[in-house]
Amino acid sequence: MKKLFEETKIGTMSLKNRFIRSATWENKTTETGHMTNELYEIYETLAKGEVGLIVTGYANILKEEQPNPGMMGIYNDTFIKEYQKLTTLVHNSDSKIIMQLAYGGTKTTFNLGERVIYAPSEVCEIGTKTLGKAMTKSEINYVIDGFAQASRRVKEAGFDGVEIHGGHSYLINQFLSPYYNKREDEYGGSLENRMRFLLEIYKEVRNTVGEAFPVLVKLTASEFFEGGMTFDETRIICKELEEMGVDAIEITGNIHGKAKSMVGQSFDGHQIQKEGYFLEYGKVISEDIGIPVITVGGLSDINKIEEILNTTNIQYFAISRPLLTEPHLIKRWKEGDRREVKCIRCSKCRTDHGNYCTVFNK
Ligand SMILES: Cc1cc2nc3c(=O)[nH]c(=O)nc-3n(C[C@H](O)[C@H](O)[C@H](O)COP(=O)(O)O)c2cc1C
Repeated sequence: MKKLFEETKIGTMSLKNRFIRSATWENKTTETGHMTNELYEIYETLAKGEVGLIVTGYANILKEEQPNPGMMGIYNDTFIKEYQKLTTLVHNSDSKIIMQLAYGGTKTTFNLGERVIYAPSEVCEIGTKTLGKAMTKSEINYVIDGFAQASRRVKEAGFDGVEIHGGHSYLINQFLSPYYNKREDEYGGSLENRMRFLLEIYKEVRNTVGEAFPVLVKLTASEFFEGGMTFDETRIICKELEEMGVDAIEITGNIHGKAKSMVGQSFDGHQIQKEGYFLEYGKVISEDIGIPVITVGGLSDINKIEEILNTTNIQYFAISRPLLTEPHLIKRWKEGDRREVKCIRCSKCRTDHGNYCTVFNK
């Protein structure tokens, strides 16, 4: 029988339990993405709360590309020192921390008009209606290099690994998507071509950080709309990523968008559930590939999580909103208080003055 509180490994990274704080943009940095005391405290509290692995909020790899306010930056070397302080703080509490790297793209309404936003093709993002600039080959190379340079900084800052954000309709996801990607060059058309951008980013990141440094990828299971990327395509992408050496894959969806209204329904033949929204998708992928699969979305009951662990090949469980409500949730569960999370999934945690639980932590 597998246990939630047992030591396991993602690549070379040892973890004390199977709980992960899923990447959560806190909206608490300075205007230029630098650390604040409040942010250090948030991470220290999570580490003291026994989270096995913390994924930072998505960090922008290029200075001019900041899709949201208050995001952590990783766009130049000035960040290395302050993140060394962050990683030391987390390690002192025997927790691990990786940084999530992102190029947001058109899924934004922040600072429009002041900057060029890249996209695979000129197709508005469904939710924001923001239109991007179809990228040239040299712009593609520029972004790939941005990811590679950011991963170098992540390693130098003492993080335990890096996660490439390939989900949630951000730029990488849009390249994968036949809805957003209408290109006629080697980056568009067939799935092989649409995944080229992600694979090239991975390859450059891997070349930069070396074989032993954990590299994870977060991927959308399905786009949940007609004409979007399908789950069958995601399955193929996961196999390719495994073959190339990715250490683990986190299977997500765009739960704040279309998928939210689909809880309890099926799409691509699989069910979006109340407990563990994307569980069925993660389960199938965990049977397809040998590297660890992380499920995220709507996990709330430790008894059910334990059951998932022992009835599927899913090995890790990532949690976001419940840890905003209860940063010590994992410690509470570990110490025997197995009540469900307090979080009611209202998603009112995004505010102009920082992202936090506005219901229980006023
Ligand atoms: C305030 C907030 C910020 C988030 N920021 C990120 C992020 O930076 N990167 C990311 O991949 N997902 C982000 N997410 C999505 C979560 O990681 C997670 O996939 C989603 O909330 C579902 O998990 P949950 O039900 O445990 O909250 C965010 C979610 C919330 C509520």
